[in-house]
Amino acid sequence: MADKQATAGHGTWLELEDKVCVVTGAASGIGLALAHALAGVGARVALWDRDAERLAEAAQALKAQGAQVLAQPCDTADEASVLRAAQAVRETLGAAHVLVNNAGLLRSGSLSAISLADWNHVLAVNLTGYLLCARSLAPQMIERGAGSVVHVASISASYPQSHSGAYSASKAGVLLLSRQLAVEWAGQGIRSNAVCPGMIRTALSQSFYRQPGVEAARAAATASRRIGEPVDIANAALFLASPRSAYVNGAELAVDGGMPNMLMDLVPRPGFNSGTSGSASPASAGQE
Ligand SMILES: NC(=O)c1ccc[n+]([C@@H]2O[C@H](COP(=O)([O-])OP(=O)(O)OC[C@H]3O[C@@H](n4cnc5c(N)ncnc54)[C@H](O)[C@@H]3O)[C@@H](O)[C@H]2O)c1
Repeated sequence: MADKQATAGHGTWLELEDKVCVVTGAASGIGLALAHALAGVGARVALWDRDAERLAEAAQALKAQGAQVLAQPCDTADEASVLRAAQAVRETLGAAHVLVNNAGLLRSGSLSAISLADWNHVLAVNLTGYLLCARSLAPQMIERGAGSVVHVASISASYPQSHSGAYSASKAGVLLLSRQLAVEWAGQGIRSNAVCPGMIRTALSQSFYRQPGVEAARAAATASRRIGEPVDIANAALFLASPRSAYVNGAELAVDGGMPNMLMDLVPRPGFNSGTSGSASPASAGQE
């Protein structure tokens, strides 16, 4: 029994063996980690990404590990492309049980200066694309009698990041899209939940970490005192994808190392926060 507990999450406990799972943005970062994690628990994985070359590399690596994989080049913001990809899943792997909506991008710029083209493009991929992918696979999930849609949102859905263009607005939209789908589709056996990553080291964010001192400063602003890795998000998303979370619907799971809880530690409070180790505080100091 103890051994079984120890392997929970990496074997049969998740009950994802042979389940057909679609991951968008699967050629890089969090999506690639998700594809590996799903293949690792025996799922059949459809990889969707607009980067055909990197997608083929990802699929090759997974196949070399014995995974049953379909690599499907797809632009998730283009409805015709999404419908073609959904059809290919149906014909090649069988009807989908799970979708992880993950393909996303960031176009920087202040709200006063960002071009309308950049604003619309980010919303088209990060928000409308999530709807298109979910709608394209819902009939397959209904055919299965059950389905789970997991949306990779962001901590930015709740906390705006200045000069990040439409990114925060797109991710805030994802949270309500997820909840609305949960309400509209529950009767057909489809759940919809969101994961909200904090700061994760991927291609999307790697330019930040090339600057000296950025990683240390970001780690210091995070309760867990480290930057997240793609596998941290994959592990949480697998739980939401799995029947183990059968009664979780319309929920948002923060996977951010507890960063929002750091607010009071990030403002100066002389005598309290000179260190980050949680050492004893002066008994006479006031509270906020
Ligand atoms: N990295 C972070 O710190 C972080 C934090 C919070 C949320 N997120 C979210 O996680 C998700 C994955 O991000 P990542 O960090 O792994 O980024 P990434 O750049 O490493 O990977 C994103 C993938 O999405 C693909 N993609 C982009 N637009 C697409 C489109 N229109 N159609 C198909 N594929 C497309 C890219 O080709 C790429 O392979 C995104 O939704 C992102 O907003 C990331």
